[in-house]
Amino acid sequence: MSEKVLHSVITENAGEETKKQFSYMEKAEGYVKDLEKELGRKPTACVVTFGCQMNARDSEKLIGILTKIGYEQTESEDADFVIYNTCTVRDNADQRVFGRLGYVSGIKKKKPWMKIALCGCMMQEQGAIEKIQKSYRHVDLIFGTHNIFKFAELICTMFESDRMIIDIWKDTDQIVEDLPIVRKYPFKSGINIMFGCNNFCTYCIVPYVRGRERSRNPKDIIREIEYLAADGVKEIMLLGQNVNSYGRGLPKEDKMSFAELLNEVCKVDGIERVRFMTSHPKDLSDDLIKVIAENEKVARHIHLPLQSGSDEILNKMNRRYTKESYLALVDKIKAQIPDVSLTTDIIVGFPGETDSDVDETIDVVRKAEFDNAFTFIYSKRTGTPAASMEQVPESVSKPNFDRLLKVVQETAKKRASRFTGQTHRVLVEEVNEQDPSLVTGRMSNNTLVHFPADKSLIGEFVDVKLDECHGFYYMGTMIK
Ligand code: 5AD
Ligand code: SF4
Repeated sequence: MSEKVLHSVITENAGEETKKQFSYMEKAEGYVKDLEKELGRKPTACVVTFGCQMNARDSEKLIGILTKIGYEQTESEDADFVIYNTCTVRDNADQRVFGRLGYVSGIKKKKPWMKIALCGCMMQEQGAIEKIQKSYRHVDLIFGTHNIFKFAELICTMFESDRMIIDIWKDTDQIVEDLPIVRKYPFKSGINIMFGCNNFCTYCIVPYVRGRERSRNPKDIIREIEYLAADGVKEIMLLGQNVNSYGRGLPKEDKMSFAELLNEVCKVDGIERVRFMTSHPKDLSDDLIKVIAENEKVARHIHLPLQSGSDEILNKMNRRYTKESYLALVDKIKAQIPDVSLTTDIIVGFPGETDSDVDETIDVVRKAEFDNAFTFIYSKRTGTPAASMEQVPESVSKPNFDRLLKVVQETAKKRASRFTGQTHRVLVEEVNEQDPSLVTGRMSNNTLVHFPADKSLIGEFVDVKLDECHGFYYMGTMIK
């Protein structure tokens, strides 16, 4: 996507911290100009994002600041400034970052002016920082998830020092609004509605690296969405680790539940589709189901992580629901929103998990008929309660994972074709990667559709007849 939108005006609501950061942006702009003179061209910056939608949104904020201070954005790591926005939810995410750092050190040797920064979830772990200090001395700047708003200030410090700058906060209750953002897509956008997580599922590192749950004020959220709508955004995704617990801790006069917020968001003129991610089954309320059912603007898609179908494992995971209550919730959702698509996350190989526990999970997959399930092998995260439980050997977890995956794929395939022949509203997102005579769009339930049309329709909603189902996507024809 070539079109970029920079949201960088200080509004009258901007707080002291925002104003302070804008003055650092001015200062950083001076440093980037100096570098431009030295290089004889505009310096380039590359942000590499690992992990979830939250990180993708954070990267848009990083790019917003980089653009504001004069960097040209590039996808190539052969840039003048490379920023890795890391994830640490599973060990393979960590390993990928170390792999990139090894690669980029080779580039930096040939470009001594090059700067390298690391941020995001992995940086909130002491072990990772120590390893970088010891083995990756070419890194210039490290910051974490809580002080990302200080990026401009940290860039100034980085330009003023030859040492590795490390600034990690343990937690924060601060939410800094109104900093610049460059959206990846002009017509759709993610929006943080809350930060952090208080659930402490025993396998999960997120509560330790993203801190305690904090909800943004509904007025700030609606103001941002109105701004985005005026700027051409038609589809938004409300983001939080557990959106169903939105609103806890808000001051009395602003108190609002997630169901109420969703309803308010749908009222914003110009916004035609609203998604949200992620829901915790223990907190998904009847009110929320009602708002979705009654409101055509809310996407027909709920991502409802199951994690396991065994009561014993769910208990050890501290998920606070049972197989029975999960299935009852699924039945309730499907009864009230018949055209909904359900997707889920499942972990195999949690400490103590046996073959019969996995049988229970497979039973839920069959009964819930998920449209898709993201399956993961349990990854031990230092500092979480599950790390000190007795681990399952790969000789047990791997065959169970394969068994589960087979059922997930069979179920998804059966489900996928159920819309064949129907006409659905599709948001056109891009030119098809393989065939430029086609465009690719998404249905309300998040399914991809490819169909012949002109690229001028990118960013528009059109009606498309779903001719043929090919597993996870449809081929269609646009209805004029
Ligand atoms: N090991 C494997 N998968 C995990 N997830 C979270 N923590 C772990 C872990 N330690 C999965 C969960 C979650 C998804 C985002 O990542 O399924 O829903
Ligand atoms: Fe992790 Fe559980 Fe919070 Fe999700 S709800 S981020 S799995 S602790």
